[in-house]
Amino acid sequence: MSETLERWGSKRAFILAVTGAAVGLGNIWRFPYVAGENGGAAFLLVYVAFVVLLGLPVMMAEIMIGRAGRRGPIQSLVTLAMEAGASPRWRWLGLFGAFTVFCILSFYSVVSGWSIEFLVASVNGSFVGASAEAIGAGFDAFLANPKLLIFNHSLFLFMTMTVVAAGISKGLERLNNLLMPLLYLLLLLLAGYAMTTSGFREALAWLFVPSFEAITPTVVLHAMGHAFFTLAVGACALMAYGAYMPDEQSLPKAAVAVAVLDISVALLAGIAIFSVVFAQGMDPADGPGLMFVTLPIAFSELPGGMFWLSIFFLLLLLATWTSAINLAEPMVATLQGLGLRRGLATTIIGLCVWLLGLLSAFSFSSLAEFRPLFGRNVFELVSTIPPDIFLPFGGLLIAVFAAWVMPRARAHGALGAGDAAFVLWLGVTRWIAIPLTFIVLLTSLLL
Ligand code: PFF
Ligand code: NA
Repeated sequence: MSETLERWGSKRAFILAVTGAAVGLGNIWRFPYVAGENGGAAFLLVYVAFVVLLGLPVMMAEIMIGRAGRRGPIQSLVTLAMEAGASPRWRWLGLFGAFTVFCILSFYSVVSGWSIEFLVASVNGSFVGASAEAIGAGFDAFLANPKLLIFNHSLFLFMTMTVVAAGISKGLERLNNLLMPLLYLLLLLLAGYAMTTSGFREALAWLFVPSFEAITPTVVLHAMGHAFFTLAVGACALMAYGAYMPDEQSLPKAAVAVAVLDISVALLAGIAIFSVVFAQGMDPADGPGLMFVTLPIAFSELPGGMFWLSIFFLLLLLATWTSAINLAEPMVATLQGLGLRRGLATTIIGLCVWLLGLLSAFSFSSLAEFRPLFGRNVFELVSTIPPDIFLPFGGLLIAVFAAWVMPRARAHGALGAGDAAFVLWLGVTRWIAIPLTFIVLLTSLLL
């Protein structure tokens, strides 16, 4: 009896841990603004299709590698490669993943810092009675103040690295998952409020009625990148979670549960945010500030708004915290694998991420016109290239490894599902996910 309870506990723990990594800024901040810049419904349609066709099978592939290897990402890759008679050079996939999360965490931490600032502002009641224009102008002034951005970035990164160094992320995950339903409830409440605004119908049409000519190669690339980003797939960050997955747990079921939760959080946030956008006559393509301007406007019109806005930013912060820990972990594990102590590894990684993050923080003021590549400044680079290119590329290699390199029986065991499910996974991964990711990546490089 007690054994069953324990197993049930760890099955659930697995889903909760992966959900903690998946739900974060990607859903509430990144989805609305990237969708806003990429045609709304056209983006949503392609993104959901990619979650199903690429995100899910590759997520399973990634976790399967960890589950079959029962070690950290790089060790699992090397062990399984040797076992299959393949080259140990597959370890480079793990290193590439570490580099990807390094870039991502640098801007993730800066933007999570914005949530800290907004949490403090809403506790102080700063948005009470402020007009939409004033809230928008306040946000621009905040971005133009690198000292504030750096302070909050440092604070957030410190919070993250402390948890990583102390190895207490399990405890935080539990707290996260205790409070996640509350975040969900708040988003439901917001979506309910959105129904009462004059922008609601327009928001629904913008999100759910695609015009097919809006599906351009750029939209397709961004949608693919976001599908990987939002599920936390493609950087070997989820691989480690497979290592402590119970033997009998079905991976497809768990992965589908996470994806459904992740998409629904994004949809609720999207409905709330775009209703405000249209009610206020704002531009959906307003960029990274979209959520930070619209939600204070929405809450300031609700009874007890500042209280709920504070709770919202607190919960958002918790959600991004667990995602950031998941981003940091593979880098720390990699350095530990090279023989460094955990504390030292965490400090080194934290410092490097902090430094790169500074460039992102200054990208809204003095470095706004410093455009080293593709005419984009550092924030624009690290918030687009790693999610749009690196994650799909890493995901592609992960899928190739699990579906072509790993011995079939090993892969089947690691999926933890019946024959039909395995054949379906193998077929989708080999003949849809791998070629599709390859084609989208290639076209975007050629265009
Ligand atoms: N999935 C996270 C989000 O949606 O906010 C971001 C993320 C976490 C991306 C971990 C990649 C990763 F490895
Ligand atoms: Na997400």
